[in-house]
Amino acid sequence: MCGIIGFVGREQAAPILLDGLERMEYRGYDSAGIAVRSETKGLQVKKTKGRLKVLADLTHGGADLEGTLGIGHTRWATHGEPNDVNAHPHVSENGRIALVHNGIIENYMELKEHLQKLGVTFKSDTDSEVVAQLLEYHYNECHNMLEAVGRVLRRIEGSYAFGIICADYPNALIAARKDSPLILGYGRNGNFIASDVTAVIKYTRDVAYMDDGEIAVLTADSVDVFDDELVPVEKKRSTVNWDVSAAEKGGYPHFMLKEVMEQPEAIRKTISPRIKNGRVVLDEISLTEDYVRELSRIFIVACGSSYHVGMVSKYNWEKLLRRPVEVVLASEFRYCDPLVDEKTLVVIISQSGETLDTMAAMREAKRLGGRTLAIVNVVGSSIAREADDVLYTWAGPEIAVATTKAYTTQLVLMDLVGLYLADRLGSVEQKEYDVILSEMQQLPEKMQQVLCHKENIQYFASRYFNHDSIFFIGRNLDYAMGMEGSLKLKEISYIHSEAYASGELKHGTISLIEQGTLVVALGSYGPLFDKAMSNVVEVKARGAEVLALTTENFREKMEKTADATIAVPVTHPILQPSLGVVPLQLFAYYVALQRGCDIDKPRNLAKSVTVE
Ligand code: G6P
Repeated sequence: MCGIIGFVGREQAAPILLDGLERMEYRGYDSAGIAVRSETKGLQVKKTKGRLKVLADLTHGGADLEGTLGIGHTRWATHGEPNDVNAHPHVSENGRIALVHNGIIENYMELKEHLQKLGVTFKSDTDSEVVAQLLEYHYNECHNMLEAVGRVLRRIEGSYAFGIICADYPNALIAARKDSPLILGYGRNGNFIASDVTAVIKYTRDVAYMDDGEIAVLTADSVDVFDDELVPVEKKRSTVNWDVSAAEKGGYPHFMLKEVMEQPEAIRKTISPRIKNGRVVLDEISLTEDYVRELSRIFIVACGSSYHVGMVSKYNWEKLLRRPVEVVLASEFRYCDPLVDEKTLVVIISQSGETLDTMAAMREAKRLGGRTLAIVNVVGSSIAREADDVLYTWAGPEIAVATTKAYTTQLVLMDLVGLYLADRLGSVEQKEYDVILSEMQQLPEKMQQVLCHKENIQYFASRYFNHDSIFFIGRNLDYAMGMEGSLKLKEISYIHSEAYASGELKHGTISLIEQGTLVVALGSYGPLFDKAMSNVVEVKARGAEVLALTTENFREKMEKTADATIAVPVTHPILQPSLGVVPLQLFAYYVALQRGCDIDKPRNLAKSVTVE
């Protein structure tokens, strides 16, 4: 949700802010704004409804705003519709304090009413403006900005990352965070704050991650951080080691396609350092053999596509570990009084490491005494830092809202962890272990073969793009994979789509199948191929048009019944979804392309969901 950025230094701020916002636009894109301060012109604010491009045009690429200190924001609306007034930055009544905010202030109504009684007039419907006005109120009391911020933070409840500038402090940028991401960037020509390292990587790789409750004061040459009692804190700095080109399109028309094509390499990077001499080695985590043996329960908790990874992993882990594995949506887990104790392992999956529900679920699991293991892509993110153990998917930055390479790297990493645990429990036969591991190492190569035939999928997309309702059916791992295929399609093409366990068809869904309904039938899970075929026959008998996905060894059989068939190379059954999902990602992509959708920034969605 919302991306914020701030800069103070020796260069013009506005173009830097716009550039950073462009790299974070995937966080929200219904409106955008910047505020810049200069000696001669004071605080200048420009904000507008619509994409960042509108703001960039309005300010002539930032040239209209003079000054070397500024803040910027790209919004995903929560409080108040997306319009010019509700866009950030918000400015206090006397026009001297400007603020950008990512998060939600939960007690904003009560604070707003209090300020209104004191005579403050509000312009917007947002919770964020309340903070700007409250800052002015406390600043008038104490005449010290740092102290005023401290007082405000003690009064507000909720989540926030703030960037603040004040006309009285021409050289200082102030930042604060709680439960919303914020990084500090140490540059040669100035210093930065941002929601995400992608915004500053062009200018510096030297960063630090702000912790909850911290306040930072940045000038062109210094970055001072304080805790919530305003006591100075020493920050540990890290170096971002990925290249700036990783966050650029590199000649592809969309980030999504680029990220789909990057999957073989991302998988290689995720698995190779963890396979040594034919064994899974997870030096990064500290689960002892005794702990694993004593485990009574495993939960996998996540949202969105990460939850779908959990669905696949439940099937795989139960097969490998012979232990009960429950997959729960983070938004449900946090409120369902889960049965967690010290013998419970709670696996948290999150690309961003910032999803609010997932983080809250993780905290709940820890509170109940469970042990948490996080599978995260963004290094240094909140979930990664708070989990008892963390394993990174080395997918690199993922920019398209619809996840692809993060999903497949999560899948293979979960398979690796499953093997690792099974090995410790002695629940997997050596031969099986060896076959899975060897097949896993061949996955990048086999995935490359799937990608080489992407034009076939494009052809199928051109045949089917004008359907208005599409069903994905499958059993076992195919069902779990179908959930992801269906989500991909609906989020970027806006076609209504559902994923069903094929066995459930007869219990209701089959009544929706009529002449010409498109059914994507998944028959890539070898052990249940015959059952998958029966379901194809069943829906065909009711007039469905069937696009089938299977493996090369079953292609011929499937082609005899389905209207169109996509086949992927065969691998070990538990790894098959890692290959099978790729044509489904491409199908969603090309359908959305045919329909003229904004693929990387689908309507109403954001990549990082940091509100409940
Ligand atoms: C959003 C994204 C999805 C993602 C989900 C969970 O909805 O658009 O792609 O799967 O959040 O995000 P996480 O970062 O926790 O994996």
